[in-house]
Amino acid sequence: MDGFSFHSHRTQLVVAAIAASATTAALISGYNALSKRSRRRDLDQDILRSISSSVAGSANTLFDGTATRTQAGDSELSAPNASPSYDEDLIQEQLARNYAFFGDEAMAKIRSKTVVIVGCGGVGSWAAVMLVRSGVSKIRLVDFDNVTLSSLNRHATAALADVGTPKVKCIERTLKQIARWVHVDCRIELWRKEDGAPLLEGADWVVDAIDNIQTKVDLLKYCHERDIKVFASMGAGAKCDPTRIQISDISHTVYDPLARAVRRRLRLQGVASGIPVVYSTEVPGDVKLLPLPEDEFDKGPVQELGVLDDFRVRILPVLGPLPAIFGLHIASYVLCELAGKPIANPLPIKNRRKLYERLLRDLQQREAKRAGEPGQPSRLGIDEDDVALLFEDVHRGRSVVPPHAVPTRPTLVRWDPARPVGVDNVVVMDAPEAERHLAGEVWGEEVRTVVERRRVEVQRAMEWVM
Ligand SMILES: *[C@@H]1O[C@H](CO)[C@@H](O)[C@H](O)[C@H]1NC(C)=O
Repeated sequence: MDGFSFHSHRTQLVVAAIAASATTAALISGYNALSKRSRRRDLDQDILRSISSSVAGSANTLFDGTATRTQAGDSELSAPNASPSYDEDLIQEQLARNYAFFGDEAMAKIRSKTVVIVGCGGVGSWAAVMLVRSGVSKIRLVDFDNVTLSSLNRHATAALADVGTPKVKCIERTLKQIARWVHVDCRIELWRKEDGAPLLEGADWVVDAIDNIQTKVDLLKYCHERDIKVFASMGAGAKCDPTRIQISDISHTVYDPLARAVRRRLRLQGVASGIPVVYSTEVPGDVKLLPLPEDEFDKGPVQELGVLDDFRVRILPVLGPLPAIFGLHIASYVLCELAGKPIANPLPIKNRRKLYERLLRDLQQREAKRAGEPGQPSRLGIDEDDVALLFEDVHRGRSVVPPHAVPTRPTLVRWDPARPVGVDNVVVMDAPEAERHLAGEVWGEEVRTVVERRRVEVQRAMEWVM
């Protein structure tokens, strides 16, 4: 950024500050005591004084991200305060809503802890911005890559002018524009298990927002073995449904192809659980895969570019909001952890497990009775994971019978009595509908159409997860 834009930025900032404090002062004077008003006035004056002095004193470091001390190591992160003229009252005012939410003690924790973000693309950039907006004051950004034009569809801070420059630098610039006091330690490096220790040094939490399976597995294993807290992002590519994004332990992830690949590799290396992740239960739809441009081949091993084995030489389609939402899930979780007020039970999975168990047990018992062996739960061609896929992702928790309501007592039932039970021959109904079905009811055209559509979907889903 040049001196030109710096001037207009400064003007904007000062005008905005005056406007904001004038509005606030007007509001407060409407209903508050005189003493409060005068304290407020002092604060406003502080804001103006502080902004003008720090703008005059450190213009380059504030507004020109490229001129900051980015090669500094851990000393940067442990320095007490980057901009001494930006005083504590102002920081507390800027973080007022967070203080209201977490309280003084928890905010002190958040502000004193260090977060390391590994991977600063569509997921990591959003996590970084929201963590810093919320008070995290020491952050290390690790990413070897430059901003590309095609990453602008999902990045939190990259602008056109950043194309060709390091991702970590454009995030750093934005973070410093948001929070004067933040210490940003930029590392234009690829994290590798052989020499990755210094990049994680001092981390209270590590965010894994890497999109390469092997590096991700290496980082997660590395942290898990050393009791370094790490939160991992699973695949946000080829998905569009924000309602299916959730947080759980990696061992509970169902039908996210990236999570499945990561989980399998970690398990082979002795890590089965203990890593919180954000993932989506959405089965990737009918995505069109683009061929990989030639220059991607020049960058190195093509196998490592994609997040899915099947996508080795392709580019994964990505809808911008999805990685952003993943990043914001990460920020929420890590903030609560840093504050010492963890999210108690991230919602669905735990409760749902019981439901899947019951659905499967009921189906087994019914099939056993049919086979004339009521005591013997029948061995079926589907397991609990399949039940989750069928019930949640294919049937969306709804009955195949119109009006396709959410059943009072959801039931899995074999559709075609002439074919064996399998993922492509089980449907969701409410219990009374299932009774009628088993008694031989012939459903109309609409039900048959829905069942057929679901059957095609489940087959497509199985292609992804096998
Ligand atoms: C990023 O851009 C710089 C400057 O153009 C270049 O030297 C470097 O090789 C690029 N890095 C990557 C990983 O493409």
